[in-house]
Amino acid sequence: MQPEWCQQHRIVSEKVGIGERVSLLRRGSSPIREQALTSDTTPVRLIGMSGSLRSGSYSNAVLETLREQFAGRADLRIYDLRPIPLYDQDFEGEKRPEPVKALLSAIAESDGLVLCAPEFNHSIPGVLKNALDWASRPAFTSVMAYKPVAIMATSRGALGGARCLEHMRVALESMLSRVALAREVTITSTADKIRDGRLVDEMSLGFACGAVEALLREIRLWRTA
Ligand SMILES: Cc1cc2nc3c(=O)[nH]c(=O)nc-3n(C[C@H](O)[C@H](O)[C@H](O)COP(=O)(O)O)c2cc1C
Repeated sequence: MQPEWCQQHRIVSEKVGIGERVSLLRRGSSPIREQALTSDTTPVRLIGMSGSLRSGSYSNAVLETLREQFAGRADLRIYDLRPIPLYDQDFEGEKRPEPVKALLSAIAESDGLVLCAPEFNHSIPGVLKNALDWASRPAFTSVMAYKPVAIMATSRGALGGARCLEHMRVALESMLSRVALAREVTITSTADKIRDGRLVDEMSLGFACGAVEALLREIRLWRTA
């Protein structure tokens, strides 16, 4: 007997058109679990971060597309990391710079994070890693500890930022964050799939939405635990 997601992938691959594929990938859940979770209608507050400061960033375009896709079900605030200074251990606790305090408060008040990062030199962009380093302190009791997180990576190339994705997972696990279990989201050839600041490739959008759906389920499960 195949696991459900394998069967679903087979059905998706063999039987349905692209529009239906998106909706199946978005759903990605068993009927029993879905039934248990649908009663929770409390709004979900999400923080989105990419680590790209570029004005035409493809990663920010993915986050913006997700913000629109989930409007009404989740409030996805795309966080500007430009004001965050470089991490300095001399300035922890009460000495944290104001922009860092604001970031940590925003993360603490959120239900979860959506990280969509471009791959930089086979790893996480320094801007995002820097923000995560601030947010990871104090170690193991920080605002990141047990925080549900959806991860996805982008690249103009053919690997879709796969190495960045793995490095994000490792870094998040080190700070005890809960990376939502979902099919991997690596968005390849972003220059072809993103138009006018939105992710228009339906298959990639389906995977990205699937990761956010997994995050929302993780948050609801947490709430009912
Ligand atoms: C410093 C730097 C390093 C990069 N390293 C990689 C890499 O290792 N792998 C890759 O696929 N793309 C790499 N790229 C290309 C970026 O992923 C690409 O420019 C991407 O569009 C940047 O993300 P953004 O569109 O969200 O700003 C690199 C770009 C820069 C500026």
